[in-house]
Amino acid sequence: MNGGGPGEDREGRSSDVDALVGEALARVAEADTSEKLRELATELTGKRSPLSRAKAGLAALEAGERRAAGMALNAARQAVEAALESRRLELVAAERTALLEAERLDLSEVVPGRRRGHLHLVTQARDRLEDTFIGMGYTVAEGPEAESDWYNFEALNFPAGHPAREMYDTFYLELGPPESTLLRTHTSPVQIRIMESSEPPIYSVMPGRCYRIDTPDASHLPVFHQIEGLVVDRGITFGALAGTLDAFTEAYFGQGFRSRLRPSYFPFTEPSAEFDITCVFCKGEGCRTCGRTGWLELGGCGMVHPNVFAAVGYDPEVWSGFAFGFGIDRLVMMRHGIDDIRELITNDVRFLEQF
Ligand code: DAH
Repeated sequence: MNGGGPGEDREGRSSDVDALVGEALARVAEADTSEKLRELATELTGKRSPLSRAKAGLAALEAGERRAAGMALNAARQAVEAALESRRLELVAAERTALLEAERLDLSEVVPGRRRGHLHLVTQARDRLEDTFIGMGYTVAEGPEAESDWYNFEALNFPAGHPAREMYDTFYLELGPPESTLLRTHTSPVQIRIMESSEPPIYSVMPGRCYRIDTPDASHLPVFHQIEGLVVDRGITFGALAGTLDAFTEAYFGQGFRSRLRPSYFPFTEPSAEFDITCVFCKGEGCRTCGRTGWLELGGCGMVHPNVFAAVGYDPEVWSGFAFGFGIDRLVMMRHGIDDIRELITNDVRFLEQF
């Protein structure tokens, strides 16, 4: 507004004020960037604006006129300020949209000859494992990574103080009573969750992340992945377990790969076994990696312990079942001949790009 505009010397006359407001609103509507609008706001409502000057001029009026003129000026200021604010919101929104549009990345864009990233090797393996078991008629289930002592230990037949708990260096969470909440040390607690929430028959696999206190080295990470299997039905035998693992081994690794079982111990299975697969490096001939045995250890398995069925309220006279569990990261390392598990989390693109 230039210096000689309305209100300069006839402060507060309503026709002048109307003209002032009319002109101000028109200029507000014309402002096309929030930057320009900010400058305009100073011009229209700042200390040197006609509105402010008109207000200062009120003092020269007679008391009677002053009141009416003062009210008119206040109303005018409110109208101008409201217009500025609503225009500001419009411009800011438009500018934000324009910025987003300008910075948009088209992640679906295909650049010939250039790969735009892919699933991590462990995720690929997990997907393939799931597919293999789905092909064998299994469903896939998941459970929480933060677990209670009950699911991770107690219900799996590790009572408090059981020496087998020593197999698991556990991260406890500061939640609830001491040592009542933890990061699951294996995927076996998901077995309990499935049995609690459904009736047999059960044919399921349960992949997921697990945690144990471990200093990272070539074969250990404090965060790793397992896949658990659980079958509960009538008349399930140890032979069914052995046959299932053998069928899985061939479906996943390919023809010529076999599995074998060796006696072992886990509180939640009886009898328990370790299962080995044909060494992927020498195909069973015997090499350095497999200690010349021709076999590589993959995981644990066994027949579900009656105490575990009791914990979930299944009748062990009616139902029987088997379970197994193994490390996905270990499996990936075997399959691809990776000799240091830390490669999987270092995020070195030269490593990741190979898979
Ligand atoms: N949960 C065991 C571990 O992490 C692995 C395991 C062994 C799972 C035997 C099973 C099983 O389901 O039957 O050490």
